[in-house]
Amino acid sequence: MPPEILSGRILLVEDSQYVKKEQTPSFCNYDQSDYQSAFWGDGKRAYEDQSEQIALERLLPESGNLMLEIGAGAGRNTLRYTGYKKVVLVDYALTQMQQAQERLGKSERFRYVAADVYHLPFADNVFDGATMIRVLHHLSDIDPAIREIKRVLQKNSVFILEFANKRNLKAIFRYLTGKQDWSPFTEEKVEFVELNFDNHPSAVQKTLASHGFNVQKKLAVSNLRIGSLKKEQNLDWMLRIESILQILNSGFLLSPSVFLKSILVEHEGPARINEFFRCPNCGSGELKESPSSVECIACGKVYPIVDGIYDFRL
Ligand SMILES: C[S@@+](CC[C@H](N)C(=O)[O-])C[C@H]1O[C@@H](n2cnc3c(N)ncnc32)[C@H](O)[C@@H]1O
Repeated sequence: MPPEILSGRILLVEDSQYVKKEQTPSFCNYDQSDYQSAFWGDGKRAYEDQSEQIALERLLPESGNLMLEIGAGAGRNTLRYTGYKKVVLVDYALTQMQQAQERLGKSERFRYVAADVYHLPFADNVFDGATMIRVLHHLSDIDPAIREIKRVLQKNSVFILEFANKRNLKAIFRYLTGKQDWSPFTEEKVEFVELNFDNHPSAVQKTLASHGFNVQKKLAVSNLRIGSLKKEQNLDWMLRIESILQILNSGFLLSPSVFLKSILVEHEGPARINEFFRCPNCGSGELKESPSSVECIACGKVYPIVDGIYDFRL
């Protein structure tokens, strides 16, 4: 089942300096979607999956305390965060979190949270690392998402962001031969299918910079994404070439997927000591947790805990 489209929910947060009373930007809802098996199943995207593994090995720090994986889906990448003591998986789709829990288990090392990136249910300065892989292309407005990610990160945290690259070789070729009307060279994003956006590398990097992230490393990823080549018998040599191209092409960034490693160098947000969750509805950190729910003392909103998965969706 394809993901459905979410739009137009009104935020009722009044007292936060970060989240204003405004419309939540639209994004894709993967609840009830069979994305994991339909998209990744039977090894049909083994090349992309392992290209991402190579990229993550190059970008992840050797160690860390608490990693936030945003839009984690069914946890395809989670076991790759080997250096981190704990990982908090967030996805708007409860069913994706359920699949992740089935895959990774109910372990002390993992915590599963259904929430939306525009309203993360965490206190300020909680995490020392974050990733967001294959999610940015579903966000209709990337700026408030990056601002919210910054809020929950500590200063000097690592943030690894993947995005679908508008300025890729195929798009350039199609544009220059008249098969595509939009320019891959201009910075505005392009919506190629409803709520599927390709972003331009300069635009993404400018947004990161505007929120205090310093891009330290760039990798061009999935350089050989060519349907006719992607066969099991080709996988080894394709990955060897991919590994070289990730770095060779990193100055030009003409690949369909780009990974950026940033460090959060500017962070003026106040630390909230000893708080982990905060209410995404009113911003309060005064929460009362029971085995089946978390209740906000300030606004009274109750968030269920479903079989160990925190459901903080507004
Ligand atoms: C293409 S899947 C990628 C999943 C995973 N990162 C991976 O690479 O396998 C995109 C995921 O982002 C999630 N997502 C989309 N918009 C979101 C939002 N606003 N907040 C949280 N998750 C979101 C979807 O529910 C979906 O699970």
